[in-house]
Amino acid sequence: MRDIIFKVIFLSRIISGSTAETEKIGFDIGKTLPGGVVVALFGDLGAGKTSFTRGFARGMGIDTDVTSPTFAIMNDYYGNGRHLYHFDMYRISGYDDLYSTGYFDYTDGDDSIIIEWSENIEEFLPDDCVRITLIKTDNENERLIDISGFDYENTFN
Ligand SMILES: Nc1ncnc2c1ncn2[C@@H]1O[C@H](COP(=O)(O)OP(=O)(O)OP(=O)(O)O)[C@@H](O)[C@H]1O
Ligand SMILES: [Mg+2]
Repeated sequence: MRDIIFKVIFLSRIISGSTAETEKIGFDIGKTLPGGVVVALFGDLGAGKTSFTRGFARGMGIDTDVTSPTFAIMNDYYGNGRHLYHFDMYRISGYDDLYSTGYFDYTDGDDSIIIEWSENIEEFLPDDCVRITLIKTDNENERLIDISGFDYENTFN
C-alpha cells in the first residue's frame, strides 16, 4: 500500500540527535523528491541547514562537497544527471536584491532548488514549495525538523 505523506499542510516533526542524522534525513528527502521542487529551509544560525543540504545533494546522487554559499549567494551542483541550485539568502532583502541573484530564472525550470534563510524571501517562495524548519533545542546535538508541503503524495512510495 502506498504511504500518503504530503497530503496536509503540516506533515511531521522529526527529531534529529546528531549532525549525521540531519544529513540522513536530508539524504532521504533528496532521494525521494522529484526534480523541479523548491525546498525552502528555515532556521537560525547553525540550525543545520547546510548539513541538511549536504545530505540532500548526496541523496540526489551529487558527490560535490556542499558548503554554505553565504558569500556566493548560490552554489550550483551537478551529478547523476541532475542540477541542484543551493541558495543562501542571508544577505538578501527585497525584490531587487533577489532578482539580481537570478532566483526567478531557476524557479521556473525543472531543476531542484534548496534555499537557506528562506525567511528573507518568504513572499517570493512558490506556493508549492516544501518547507523545512530546523529548530535548536536545549540539547546542543538535537534539532527538531518540521516538514510541511503541498500534496506530494504521488511522489512518495
Ligand atoms: N542534530 C544536528 N543537526 C545538524 N547540525 C547539528 C546537529 N547537532 C549539532 N550540529 C552542529 O550544528 C552546526 C550546524 O551547522 P550548519 O552549517 O549545518 O548550520 P546552518 O543552519 O547552515 O548555519 P548558517 O545559518 O550559518 O548557514 C554544525 O556544526 C553541526 O555539526
Ligand atoms: Mg548554512
